Formats: sequence, C-alpha cells, structure tokens
Amino acid sequence: WFSQVEQAPKDPILGITEKFLADTDPSKINLGVGAYRDDNGQPVVLDSVREAERRVAGSHFMEYLPIGGLRDFIQESVKLAYGDSHPVLKEGQVAAVQSLSGTGSCRLFADFQKRFMPGSKVYISEPTWANHFNIWRDAGVAFEKYRYYKPETRGLDFEGLMEDIKNAPSGSVFLLHACAHNPTGVDPSPEQWRAISRAMAERGHFPLFDMAYQGFASGDCDRDAQSIRIFLADGHRLAVSQSYAKNMGLYGQRVGCLSVVCDNQRDASAVESQLKAIARPMYSNPPLHGALLVTKILQDAELKQMWFKEVKGMADRIISMRSLLRQQLETAGSPLSWRHITDQIGMFAYTGMTGDMVDTLAAKHHIYMTRNGRISLAGVNTKNVARLAEAMHAVTKQ
Ligand code: LMR
Repeated sequence: WFSQVEQAPKDPILGITEKFLADTDPSKINLGVGAYRDDNGQPVVLDSVREAERRVAGSHFMEYLPIGGLRDFIQESVKLAYGDSHPVLKEGQVAAVQSLSGTGSCRLFADFQKRFMPGSKVYISEPTWANHFNIWRDAGVAFEKYRYYKPETRGLDFEGLMEDIKNAPSGSVFLLHACAHNPTGVDPSPEQWRAISRAMAERGHFPLFDMAYQGFASGDCDRDAQSIRIFLADGHRLAVSQSYAKNMGLYGQRVGCLSVVCDNQRDASAVESQLKAIARPMYSNPPLHGALLVTKILQDAELKQMWFKEVKGMADRIISMRSLLRQQLETAGSPLSWRHITDQIGMFAYTGMTGDMVDTLAAKHHIYMTRNGRISLAGVNTKNVARLAEAMHAVTKQ
C-alpha cells in the first residue's frame, strides 16, 4: 500500500530537538525550540500553575467540554487580550472559542478564511514562524509574503512593510505578530503600529494577530497587547490567536483561544457557530485540564498577581541573558557588532548567522539552533553563555 510514500522532511524547529537528543556530548546546548528553561537549563512549572493544579485536583468533572470549549476560560482569555472592560466585549461583538494553542487557533482561522473570505490571500511576514506556511497551505489558502525585516539594519523594514500593505489587494488578511516577533525579535514601535493600523484600515485589510508571547516580551501583559488595542481604537474588525504555552508554561496542555471581533452581536454569534462547525470534525472539542488551570489563575486576583510576577520573572531572565550574551561575545574578542541581540525582544535572538555557521555550531560545538540563525534565549544561562559566545565567535570570525 505505502511503498510510494516518501519520508517527510523534518520540521525545521522540532526536528532540531530530535538532533539534539541524538547527540551524546554532555556539554550539548539546545537553542532550537522556544521553550523556557531556568538558569540550570531545566523546564519550569510555574508556582501559580502548581497552585491551580492543587485547586483542580480531585475534580470529578471529566466530561466532554462543549465544542467551543470552557466558557469561563474564553471569557478570561478575551479580557486578557482586549482589556477587562473593552467596549467590543461589552457590546458582545467578540466570537471566541477555546483552541489547541497557537497552532490550533491559526488553523481554525485559516479554515474560516477559506470558507468565509473566499479568494482572499493571507500575507505573512518575511521571515516568520515556519509553521505559519504549513497551516495556511493545508487550509488551502494562498499566501504572499510582506517585507518585515531589513538585514542591513537588523531592524524593521518599515517602508517595505507599508508599501506591501498599500499594494496588497483590498480585503487581504495580514498575519501580524502581536509582540515578540518570531523569529526576528523585532517589533514595530507604538507609532509604527498606529501607522500600520491606519494604512490597513485605508486598504480594507483584515488583521489577524498571532499572540503567542503575551507577557513574555516586556513582562507586562497589557503592554504586550498594545498593538491589538491600537487597532481596536481605530475601529478595525480583527482576529486574535492566543496561546498559553509560553506565558504560563503550559506547552503540552495545548491551550489557547481564537477570537474574532465582529460588527455586532448577531455576526459574532454566527461566526462563533461556524468556528465550532469547523472544530467538530477536526478534533470534536478541546482538552479540559489546561483550560481549568488557566481559568483558576485568571479568575483569582491573588493567583493572577502571582502569575504576572512569574511571567515577568521569565521575561527578565531572558532580557538579562541578552546582555550577558552580548557582553560575552565582546569578551571572547568578537569585533562584530552584536547590539541587535540586546535591541531585539522576546524569546529569540535573530543573530544573523548563516545556515552554514549553524551547521558548524552543531557539528563542532554541539550547539543546536534553527538554520535561520535564530537562538532561543530561553536555552541560554549563566553556565553555558561563555561557551556559547566563544563558539559563536569561532564560527563568525573571518
Ligand atoms: C518555536 O518557534 O520554537 C515555538 O513556537 C515552538 C514551535 O511549535 O515551533
């Protein structure tokens, strides 16, 4: 039956973990997948999550969730994204369903786009998270790339981005990273977001915000959602994909939320019903446990404060690793400018190293990262940073 089936290529991000695991060198370092580690290189379960688990333990409720997920979870999630008392929430304009984390939210939206925004394309930043392409391809939606990153300045290609917004056919979907752009770590400033929002409104484009890192960029959940709030203030209809993988460390629980801001309550209800109709044959209904944990945390003022502190703690450790890595590269004698490492934000440093350099780092130094030169700073700590800097210097010197 299956002799004609070819081996699928390895995933450019999760495939790195497989290579890392196969390396037997004890000093190996994994800077591939974006998953938080503490200063000892260990995965972290947040205290707020532990407390929520205690509160959930012993529950006799193991029933199916509704197709759209846990109501309280959804309510808390949209408040976190849009702001507690935003008018779009008060007016019932938001359609929302619990999703299977960021990938699941994006996939639900992509399928919705295919059915209800016929002929529209999705515009994806160049570069972006590799899985974005797979998601829209499998949903059967055509994509185009928009300019985003300028290698010469290692910053935002603002002019290119604005031009691409103007030139895209009216009614296109623009996939935007709400904060902590993956992989570049380059975010527009609030003024730039305002200009982007105005240009998109003029052209009648539809923004979809992928928000996988709320709280993880600046340490402040409201600040990290400011791009969305700016667009809302301009009267946009938009969609938001939320994930609790990074900011609550609930990676394997697959817990997220997709919301769509509509013109009115009638439209929101219709859109929500269609999102459920897409979810039902795909996975029937979403998983329970992670949604209960998030709800416990967000509904309880004390636990929520505890979580805010913890997410800030993670963001701060990453920010301090940026400075340390830059400093160690200078100490190692690198004459190159590594300023971009401290200018960027979020979980990743987009180093500018080439695919060949990345291959040498793996083969000679047992240091693993994606071939686009992206480092997950979560894998950097005070114990391995000097070795990492020396290896980076070795592969980047002429
Ligand atoms: C990453 O970019 O490393 C993360 O978003 C994990 C993933 O699923 O790719």
